[in-house]
Amino acid sequence: MHTPVDSGGLRLYPGYLDRPQQEALLAAVDSVLAAAPLYTPRMPKSGRPFTVRMSNCGPLGWVSDEQGYRYQATHPESGRPWPPMPALLLAIWDELGRYPHPPEACLINFYDQQAHMGLHQDRDEQDFSAPVVSLSLGDTCLFRIGGTERRDATRSLRLASGDAIVLGGSARLAFHGVDRIISGSSSLLAEGGRINLTLRRVSQPDTKTPSVEG
Ligand code: SIN
Ligand code: FE2
Repeated sequence: MHTPVDSGGLRLYPGYLDRPQQEALLAAVDSVLAAAPLYTPRMPKSGRPFTVRMSNCGPLGWVSDEQGYRYQATHPESGRPWPPMPALLLAIWDELGRYPHPPEACLINFYDQQAHMGLHQDRDEQDFSAPVVSLSLGDTCLFRIGGTERRDATRSLRLASGDAIVLGGSARLAFHGVDRIISGSSSLLAEGGRINLTLRRVSQPDTKTPSVEG
């Protein structure tokens, strides 16, 4: 039983995954990446490359290029469908998500020592009543989180290997980003760096109730 640190819809679970669980999750991520290799996304319009490399698993994946941010069913370079979501990730969503439908996308972010991610909101989904569940593997990062307006005050948290955070409720649209990676802070990834996994529900579940006529 994991008891989160809960503040305004942001739930933190320090040490949510123990080392054997982190190793099991890393093995699952490695097999996803063997089928759907990391690629370098590009910023909308400018085409400037991200410093973070990405892949996805699940029915949908989040991608970014000159045409904009979007979800799509295929890898932007190979054109192949994203690999299925590992059972371990579905089980984590069931435990942490507090949401009655499965996630549709798991974004895999890989940060090398120089990588970072600017402050942004996760808002390309149709259903904001579903939370965003985020897992960290490998080197610790300095994570920044604020409010729902870009100008709101932010605070900085350290996310270490095995930590989970959930952005739900009033924190679902909180601005967040990764200032930097603390290289050498974890031995989980042989080559160093950090992996972040972000589980999301993308579409509005079908809420039509069965007809009771007749
Ligand atoms: C993201 O916002 O997509 C990634 C956040 C993180 O790497 O912790
Ligand atoms: Fe995000």
